Amino acid sequence: MNHFDYRGGALYCEDVSLAAIADAVGTPVYVYSTATLQRHLRIFRESFAPLDPLIAFAVKANANIAVLQVLAKEGAGADTVSAGEIKRALAAGVPPEKIIFAGVGKTRAELGFALDVGVAQINVESPGELADVAACAKARGRPAPVALRVNPDIGAGGHDKIATGGGDTKFGVSLSDAAALYRAASQDPWLAPRGLAVHIGSQIRDLAPLRTAFLRVRHLAEQLGGEGYPVPHLDLGGGLGVPYFHEPDPPSPAEYAALVKEVFAGLRAHLAFEPGRLIAANAGVLLTQVIRRQPRPGRDIVVLDAAMNDLIRPAMYEAYHDLKPLEDRGAVAETVDLVGPICETGDAFAKARTLPRLEAGDLAAFMTAGAYGAVMASTYNARPLVPEVLVSGDRFAVVRDRMSVEDQIRQERLPPWADAP
Ligand code: LLP
Repeated sequence: MNHFDYRGGALYCEDVSLAAIADAVGTPVYVYSTATLQRHLRIFRESFAPLDPLIAFAVKANANIAVLQVLAKEGAGADTVSAGEIKRALAAGVPPEKIIFAGVGKTRAELGFALDVGVAQINVESPGELADVAACAKARGRPAPVALRVNPDIGAGGHDKIATGGGDTKFGVSLSDAAALYRAASQDPWLAPRGLAVHIGSQIRDLAPLRTAFLRVRHLAEQLGGEGYPVPHLDLGGGLGVPYFHEPDPPSPAEYAALVKEVFAGLRAHLAFEPGRLIAANAGVLLTQVIRRQPRPGRDIVVLDAAMNDLIRPAMYEAYHDLKPLEDRGAVAETVDLVGPICETGDAFAKARTLPRLEAGDLAAFMTAGAYGAVMASTYNARPLVPEVLVSGDRFAVVRDRMSVEDQIRQERLPPWADAP
C-alpha cells in the first residue's frame, strides 16, 4: 500500500495534491511520500519479529539525504557501494555502526575511508579485495570487520541486467572458494571476519531461488562454524520484488520472512537485510507534463516532458511504469505510445499503452518510481538534473533543486590554448 490516491478526482500524495507540487516546482519532478517510506520499513521489520535484524536500506535505490533521514529516524541502516553513498548515509544521520559497505570495485581510498568512519562491515567480494582491506586495516592499526560475499551460483530477478547471483556474474566468491578464504581471513591479524553475505538479484518475484541460495549459505555457515570459524552475522541482501502493475503480486515481506525464519531456524546468527526497491519504489512518483500529441496513422504519440534521462528503467530494462493522469479521467479511452523529448528511439516509456486520453498541458505521474529513478538520472541532451520533493502530511519541500544548465556549464571550462592565435 502507498499514499498516492485520487481524492475528489485529483491525485494526491498524502494530503498534498500532486498538481500543486507540479505548479510550484515545475515538471519533471520526483515526489516521495514520507508515510509510505515509513510504512514499508515498519512492515519489513515487523515481518521479522521477534528477530531484530539490521535493515540496511540500499542507498543505490534512492540516495536523497531527506529520504535517507526518514528511514534513519525509523532505525534503518544503510547498504552502501561507494564512498559517496557512505557520505550520504552519514549526512542523513545513519550511524556508522549501521552502515554496510559492499560492491565489487571498492578502491583502497574508499576502503580506508570506510574504516576511518567506522562502518559496521565491509562485504568483501574477492581475494584481492581481502588483501587490500587487510593492508588498509594494518595501516590504521585496527582489524577490519569483514563479511565474505558468496556467489551461490543461482541468479534471480526481474531482468538479466539485475540478476547478480549466477556463477558467471562479477559478484562474490564461489561457494567452493569461500570456506578457504574465510579461514585465511580468520588467520589474518588485520581482518575480523564476522559473517557471510549474499544477494542474488533484484525485483525477485519467486521465493524458490532465494530458498536455494539461503540453504547454500546456511550450509557454508554451519561448515565454517563446525571447523571453529564462527559466522555470527549473515547479510541476506535485498531483492524482493514490488508490484509495478496488475501482475500477480510478488511474495509479501511476511512470506519472505517466513522463508528466512524456516531456512535459518536454529542457527545462531544476527541477520541483516539490504532492501532498496521494496522500501522506496512505491513511495515515489515522477510527475510529468504532456508537451504535445503527435498524430500518426494507427496510434498517436504522446510526447512528455520527462525523458529517459529522468527515468531510465523503461529504456534500460523494458520496465513497466504505470502512468496516471493527475486528474482522474475515469475509463480507459485510447492506446498511444509514450515518449520523451530525447533524440533516440529508445527514449520511450511505453509502446501501445492504453490509458485515459491525454492532451497537451495535462499532468501525469509515473508510478512506482521511487527506487532506481532519480539516482539513475543524467543530464543527457543537456537536460537539467531532475529535482526531488518530499511530502509529509500536508507539507512538501524541495529536497533537491532542479540543477540548471548554467550550473552545469559553470563546472566546465575552455582549455587555456583555446584563445591562442
Ligand atoms: N544489495 C546488493 C548487494 C545489491 O546489489 C542490491 C541491488 C541491493 C542490495 C538492493 O536490491 P533491491 O532490494 O533494491 O532489489 N537499477 C536496477 C536495479 C539494480 C539493483 C542492483 N543491486 C533497476 O532499476 O531495476
